[in-house]
Amino acid sequence: MKESKKETNARIEALLQELTLEEKCRMIHGAEFFKSGGVDRLGIPGIVTSDGPCGVRNDFYPNRWYVIGSSADYVSYLPSNSAIASTWNRKLAGDSGRVLGREARGRGKDMILAPGINIKRNPLCGRNFEYLSEDPYLVSELVVPLIEGIQENDVSACVKHFACNNQEWERYSVNAEPTERAFRELYLPGFEAAVKKAKSLSLMGSYNLVRGEHGSESRKLLTDILRKEWKYDGLVVSDWTANHDTKDAAESGLDLEMGITDNFDDYYLGRPLVEAVKRGEIDESVVDEKIRHILRLLLRIRKIDIEVSTGKNGKKSARAVATEDRDPGYYNGHVMHAYALKTAEEAVVLLKNEKKRLPLKPSQTRKLLVIGENANRAHANGGGSAEIKALYEITPLLGLAAEYGGNTEIRYVPGYYVPKKVRDGANWQENSIMDEWKLQEKQKAGLDPAAERKKAKAMKEEAARLAKEYDDVIFIGGLDHDHDVEGKDRTDMKLPYGQDDVLNAVLDANPDTVVVMVAGSPVDMRAWKDRAKAIVYMSYNGMEGGTALARVISGTICPSGKLAETFPESYETTPVAHFGEYPGRKLTAAEKKRMKACNYTADYKEGIFVGYRYYEKFDVPVQFPFGFGLSYVDFKYSDIALEKSGDKITVSAKITNTGHVSAMEVVQLYVGAKTPKKEDPVKELKGFEKLELKAGQTKTVRFKLDASDLAHFNEESGEWQTERGVYRFSIGSSSADIRLKKDARI
Ligand code: BGC
Repeated sequence: MKESKKETNARIEALLQELTLEEKCRMIHGAEFFKSGGVDRLGIPGIVTSDGPCGVRNDFYPNRWYVIGSSADYVSYLPSNSAIASTWNRKLAGDSGRVLGREARGRGKDMILAPGINIKRNPLCGRNFEYLSEDPYLVSELVVPLIEGIQENDVSACVKHFACNNQEWERYSVNAEPTERAFRELYLPGFEAAVKKAKSLSLMGSYNLVRGEHGSESRKLLTDILRKEWKYDGLVVSDWTANHDTKDAAESGLDLEMGITDNFDDYYLGRPLVEAVKRGEIDESVVDEKIRHILRLLLRIRKIDIEVSTGKNGKKSARAVATEDRDPGYYNGHVMHAYALKTAEEAVVLLKNEKKRLPLKPSQTRKLLVIGENANRAHANGGGSAEIKALYEITPLLGLAAEYGGNTEIRYVPGYYVPKKVRDGANWQENSIMDEWKLQEKQKAGLDPAAERKKAKAMKEEAARLAKEYDDVIFIGGLDHDHDVEGKDRTDMKLPYGQDDVLNAVLDANPDTVVVMVAGSPVDMRAWKDRAKAIVYMSYNGMEGGTALARVISGTICPSGKLAETFPESYETTPVAHFGEYPGRKLTAAEKKRMKACNYTADYKEGIFVGYRYYEKFDVPVQFPFGFGLSYVDFKYSDIALEKSGDKITVSAKITNTGHVSAMEVVQLYVGAKTPKKEDPVKELKGFEKLELKAGQTKTVRFKLDASDLAHFNEESGEWQTERGVYRFSIGSSSADIRLKKDARI
């Protein structure tokens, strides 16, 4: 029989009583880079953590940033969150989570430091590839199955970075000042869903400050919102070296302080806390609360059980014992690779397909020229803490070669020049709290620019010359993890390595060239976008990314991915650039006094107008809208109907695949007031369903809403309110391609 919460709490209390102050403090900070301290005397183990979002990261020495380098930490490489979001498929998000959790457990981990779910406020943010979307509804819908999937395996998810970690530039010391409405409507809902619906067993605070407090020691975030409002009883972990003060770290609601330096005992929640408690400056009860959260987590992931016994003198004693039935997990199973492939397939987004340039049927493709460094490049081992050692990674070139087979002659040339990276042996993370990237720029400066220009010119000329000779040419470029990377934002949305120039030369030579952009965030394609007949977008798409891309290009499968973020024309046209601020302004005198370890404040003056909410409201042209993605078939939308019963609303429509092959369509429901107020968005995503339709097949899609789903946050009353009035329910194939509308009074 399952034990009641009360009984479990009693056992936790009994074990807590056994611990000395020193032992408690040992448990609440890192004892290694990725492990917290334990208490052997009582059988209490440390919590073993690992990054990260695309797979379980390689192992490091406990106190040195060198990878151990054995062959035991090769793992499945999963599509990044930006790719998962492009599937718009809740089930696939769940499958990815399941694989991640199973492999984490297989690798002996207790907690996987994922998923990252910060809102994509700015397309330049270096970590956007780790995040899901610009839209809080899409984030919330995908984060729940992701976390549930992870936690099926006796492993804790650790949703991150709470909150407003929306830029990497000055990430340790920038203060985010969102309006209360934007905070509630955009930046918090994903975390709230993670905590309340998915029951994430742990959560990671952010480096940046939010309204004057560092995320990893913010009373407002960790106590007022998380613990009091959301009633969270899980574990709160700091980001690595994100704390600045013992009292704040101790009293804010943080449970576990982790870091990248090896002076573990000196961490704020280590010796300094023991001393502060002894001096009577901090109450021991705050330490006890952290221990409760840690023990509860260890019980929940079934790492320990707590045995309580009563001695002859009637005195109770307790100790932790290892459980015998904990899920052992495993990694690198074929089934995991199959899940990775399925997700990757649905993550590929077809952006343009004039004159049905795609698919390129293998039977009709005798000679194929593939151009571009990203055709031949593996990405798993980059990006910052999301790096992993992939068991394998099918590059686009390998995928194409395998898909097209021996009757197609494939020639590959890189086309553009990517300078070699200069690195020493240690991991970037060692220096990550110093300005690692600036160090690297210095090293780069040692290269010979004239020789590099010469190389680049020769490569471009070779690509253009060959493009003329081939009927079928595919250019595969975009970004890589020198740009989509932790600790650094891009400076603009332009393609690096002179790709615009190369692409134009190739398109001059062969106007039928198919263009593929592999990138974790939007890029400016305007230099050649109108000339290219076919454009495909793919994010970092896991170990089977190349297979998935090749299957879409060949027509083995129909593309079904949709953009989870708007592709603006350029950074200058984005809401952050327009209203600002990014990267932030200098602090006022009052702020300087009030905030420690802070250099800049970013006023989120765009308010709720982030992503499509902005482009629509202010009529700003974009390259590709939110929710956009083509198929090889057409879908007919018909028969919209709306039923109301009290506050319950059901909107339905019929969708027909009018093509000749099976295909999938993401049907999207957007809702807004018929006449939106100045301060409200035109419409917002309120539902989506991914339908699989055979050729000629019709299905009915049904969205069920409650009037409360249409509420906005009222800053004056501090409450969510649904304004009564006429609303427009729009069903479409993207935010800009609305096929059916119905108005109703709510
Ligand atoms: C990142 C976290 C990561 C941690 C541990 C930090 O630099 O911000 O996302 O989980 O390092 O590697």
